[in-house]
Amino acid sequence: MNATAKDARIALMPGDGIGTEVMEQAVRVLELLREQDALPLSWDTLDWPSTAWHREHGQMMPDDALQQACEYDALLLGALGDPGPLEDKARYRLPDGISLAPLLTFRKGLDLWACERPARLLPGAPRYLADPRAEQVDMLVIRENSEGEYVNQGGRLQQGTPHEVATQLEIFTRRGTERLIRHAFVRARERLQDHGAERSFFCTEKGSAAAQVCLITKRNAQPAWGELYTEVFAEVAREFPEIGVSHQLVDAACMKFVQCPWEFDVVVASNLHGDILTDLAAVLSGGLGLAPSCNINPDNRDRPALFEPTHGSAPDIAGQGKANPAAMLLTTAMMLEWLGFGLSAERLRGAVAQDLVTSTPPARGCKEVADGIIAHLV
Ligand code: NAD
Ligand code: IPM
Ligand code: MN
Repeated sequence: MNATAKDARIALMPGDGIGTEVMEQAVRVLELLREQDALPLSWDTLDWPSTAWHREHGQMMPDDALQQACEYDALLLGALGDPGPLEDKARYRLPDGISLAPLLTFRKGLDLWACERPARLLPGAPRYLADPRAEQVDMLVIRENSEGEYVNQGGRLQQGTPHEVATQLEIFTRRGTERLIRHAFVRARERLQDHGAERSFFCTEKGSAAAQVCLITKRNAQPAWGELYTEVFAEVAREFPEIGVSHQLVDAACMKFVQCPWEFDVVVASNLHGDILTDLAAVLSGGLGLAPSCNINPDNRDRPALFEPTHGSAPDIAGQGKANPAAMLLTTAMMLEWLGFGLSAERLRGAVAQDLVTSTPPARGCKEVADGIIAHLV
C-alpha cells in the first residue's frame, strides 16, 4: 500500500541503445505518478554503466560502483550493449563481454539471486501463436541469478593456436538451489491465493492442481547439477502439498512453450536455461517490447534490487525512436511494487493494459506509446 511505504531513493541507469530511449519514457511516468500519488520517491540519473562512459573512462562504471549503488533502494536500468557505430562510423563496437559485465557484477555482487520474469499475454498484445488457447498464457519464470552457468570462471589456453583449450566452469550450490526453488513455491502459493482455483494444471506427480511449479533441467546430459536440482525440488515440494509439480528437460520445455504454453504456471530454471526460456516466454506474451524483469534478493532488502526489462539495447532499432517502452514501464511497475507503492504499480500496469486494448495500428513510436499509456493515468 502506498500509505505505508517509506521514502525511496532510486538510481536510474539508462545505459545503451534503446535503454536511453525507454528510460526517458519511464522518467515521464515516474514524475507523473510521484505527483499524482504523492509518492515519497527521489532519483538520480547516472551516466554509468554505459559504453559512453567506457569511451571516456576506459571502463563501464567507476571502481566503487557497487558501493555507490548501495546508497539507493532500487536500481532501474534501461539496457546495456554497445549499439555500434551511430554518429562515428569508424568507432569500434565494444565486445559484449565488457559492456554486459556490469549486469553480472550487480546481480552477483548484490546477491540478487532471483530473477523474476512474468509472461502474461494481455488482451490486445500481439499473439504470435495461432491456437486461441495462447490467450491464456500466464506464467512466471524464476531464474537463478547468482551462480550456475554464469559464474564466469574458466579461461583459454594456447589462445589462437590449433591447440587452444577453452574451459567454462559451472557451479551449483545446494544453498543457491534450495533458496531458489523454495522461492518458486512461495510465489506459486501467492499466485494461487491471488487467482483462486480458476486454473487447472496437469501435473505428472500429483494429478491436477490449481497452481504448479515446473522444474527445468538437462539432467539427462548434465546429471550432476540436474540431480541436485531434482532432489532439492522434491524435498521443498513436500512443504507445499497444495502446489502441483512437474519437470521438463529444457529442450522439451522449449517445444512445449510453443505447443502448449498455457500449461505452465511457475517455472523454475537455472541461470542460462532461464535466460533462454525468458526470451521465448517474452514472445508468448507479446514480444520483448512487453517483457518486464527484476533481479531481487527476497531475503534481504538492505541492498538495492535491480529492475531492467528482459530486452537488450536493440542495435537494429536504436536511435530511431521505435522501441516499445511498455517492457520498461511494466518493469517500473515491478519496482514500485517492490518499494511498497503497490497502488501506483497497479495503476501503471492497468494503464499499459488499457493502452493495448484501445490503441490501434499503424505502429507507434516510443514516445507515442508512452503518450497513450500516460493518457490512461491522467
Ligand atoms: P535485444 O533484446 O536487444 O533485441 C532482440 C530483438 O528484439 C531485436 O530485433 C530488437 O529490435 C527487438 N526488441 C528488443 N527490445 C525491443 C523493444 N523494447 N521494442 C521493440 N523491439 C525490441 O537482443 P540482442 O539483439 O540479442 O542484443 C543486443 C545487445 O543487447 C547485445 O549487446 C546484448 O548482449 C545486449 N543485451 C542486453 C541485455 C540487458 O541489458 N539486460 C539483455 C539482452 C541483451
Ligand atoms: C538478460 C541478458 C543477460 C543475461 C546478458 C546480456 C548477460 O540476456 O538479462 O536476459 O544473459 O542474463
Ligand atoms: Mn536474455
